Amino acid sequence: MSSSTHRTTPSARTSARTSARAPARPSGSTSDVLVVGGGIIGLVTAWRAARRGLATAVVDPEPGGGAAQVAAGMLAAVTELHYGEQTLLGLNLASARRYPEFTAELSDLTGQDLGYRRCGTLAVALDADDRAHLRDLHALQQRSGLESQWLSGRECRRLEPMLAPGVRGGLRVDGDHQIDPRRLTAALVTACERSGVVFHREWAERLVTARERATGIVTRDGTALAAGQVVLAAGSLSGRLAGVPDAVRPPVRPVKGQVLRLTVPRAYAPFLNRTVRAVVRGSQVYLVPRENGELVVGATSEELGWDTTVTAGGVYELLRDAHELVPGITELPLTETRAGLRPGSPDNAPLLGPTELPGLLLATGHYRNGVLLTPVTGDSLAHALVTGELPEEARPFTPRRFTAAALLEQPV
Ligand code: GLY
Repeated sequence: MSSSTHRTTPSARTSARTSARAPARPSGSTSDVLVVGGGIIGLVTAWRAARRGLATAVVDPEPGGGAAQVAAGMLAAVTELHYGEQTLLGLNLASARRYPEFTAELSDLTGQDLGYRRCGTLAVALDADDRAHLRDLHALQQRSGLESQWLSGRECRRLEPMLAPGVRGGLRVDGDHQIDPRRLTAALVTACERSGVVFHREWAERLVTARERATGIVTRDGTALAAGQVVLAAGSLSGRLAGVPDAVRPPVRPVKGQVLRLTVPRAYAPFLNRTVRAVVRGSQVYLVPRENGELVVGATSEELGWDTTVTAGGVYELLRDAHELVPGITELPLTETRAGLRPGSPDNAPLLGPTELPGLLLATGHYRNGVLLTPVTGDSLAHALVTGELPEEARPFTPRRFTAAALLEQPV
């Protein structure tokens, strides 16, 4: 479909804009907000912006694609806590807290089931090293005021009888849930459509600036799309849009993750009751059981540029590690193997909100937490688009922390 068929005329959007306090749009612009990237983060940004009354468009050849098509959908603020990431923990928890209301609103609007499952997580240890690592994590969680409970191997197996007899102990985290990212993304496409978001199904080629302000983009087929504000939300591709000045170009890189999907036959259900995960020989492995019988096994973490090849080695390692945790998985049909690209950032945290270039905002760099951070990202960006400022909870994630001056001020 050509992008011109989707272009919104100002008159068609008048009623939707009445409540907005959007910045004045330059004459001839086609939207208040143009979101570059129709993955999960671009879609939630567009939906929340439209809900605030902003005339919003998304440019993406295939809205609803991207890393969320591969992601397992763990909402793992507590089990994925890392040293030095306390500030990110605050944002992760804020987003996890929003999930019940966010999914209820999205389901009401779209009539779609999102596969949001409040099933909790069990992180287990297979040997003495794993157990020491998990004990450290438990101590860090306790110092951070988080809820988790240490269990013996026997207690772990009582909760999850399919676990290997060799499991030495584990952490029960009842607050780390899951959602099906494919369903979530499909619902966000519908929510955008119902909220009047316009889709331009083309690649964004180049950012357009005028008088030191972002004023729109040009698509690969040469169509110019003007906007009052542009949000760059193109996942791992966010650093590649031409025309973005170097000083505000997001420092994101692709981090490959290979993920497997298996199917639990009805006769074997419930195979697992909750997400089960471990660090095996230094690599993360997790098994995420859906109510519909899908079992997602992930994920590798590989710094290989733009490569999305599914490799025999990647599949082998995931199956080997998952088999050590839950030997019965070798009985299950393997239904899909796929690789996606996480948008990694220098501090593993997202880049949210206004940049030093007026009119250009970022919503990218979510790395391992894109699905978890979806609700808070949508709300933070909508707030920034309307007021020009990030809300308090999102301020530490300003892209300005990576500008040359800010980096010079940081302690070494
Ligand atoms: N958050 C899980 C992953 O990125 O593999």
